[in-house]
Amino acid sequence: MFKKTVSFIVSGRGSNFQTVAEKIKSGYIKANLGIVISDKAEARALTIAGDFGMDSYFINPRDFPGREAHESEMIRLLEKYKTDLVVAAGYMRILTAFFIRKYRNRIINIHPALLPSFPGVHSQQQALDYGVKITGCTTHFIDEGTDTGPIIIQSPISVMDDDGIESLSSRILKEEHRILPESVKLFCEGRLRINGRKVYIDK
Ligand code: GAR
Repeated sequence: MFKKTVSFIVSGRGSNFQTVAEKIKSGYIKANLGIVISDKAEARALTIAGDFGMDSYFINPRDFPGREAHESEMIRLLEKYKTDLVVAAGYMRILTAFFIRKYRNRIINIHPALLPSFPGVHSQQQALDYGVKITGCTTHFIDEGTDTGPIIIQSPISVMDDDGIESLSSRILKEEHRILPESVKLFCEGRLRINGRKVYIDK
């Protein structure tokens, strides 16, 4: 079977990237590892990429006159490595329509809330502040809105009375590390079918 190439865009710690890369390396996800692109020089994900023998790039948004110019450079590199799927694994910038058009239905994002609740940043804190009893995480394809694209997998987590930001975030993260690799695997097996807002998973 033709193996897809999976690349990652990141901004920080890189635990989601690491989990997916491990599952590709072990053969659980049948795919090729592409590259890692960070918009932050200090992102730990760049170091982890080295551990996997992957090429990684810090592309500084400040070196470019605008967002599309920055993304053009990202696209150039993603194409150079023949990327089929882009995984936004803790990428904290909003992608423009220019990038999204290029990778339409081929960018998967992990979000630490049950969308459409708590989009944007600090989603775990938003959930605590709101007082919800259940939150969780979501994988979805990225479209032109902020965290609005078609949903692939969601996983719910109960919020406990004594939860703080750290305890809640770490329980959510554990589920992120389950549903993100699963979503990438389904994509790489060609089992995700998008129809409007809905993503169907073929058996
Ligand atoms: C994860 O919790 C991810 O869901 C979140 O950033 C964290 C990155 O952690 N992403 C967003 O909030 C996107 N809006 P990681 O670098 O260890 O994977």
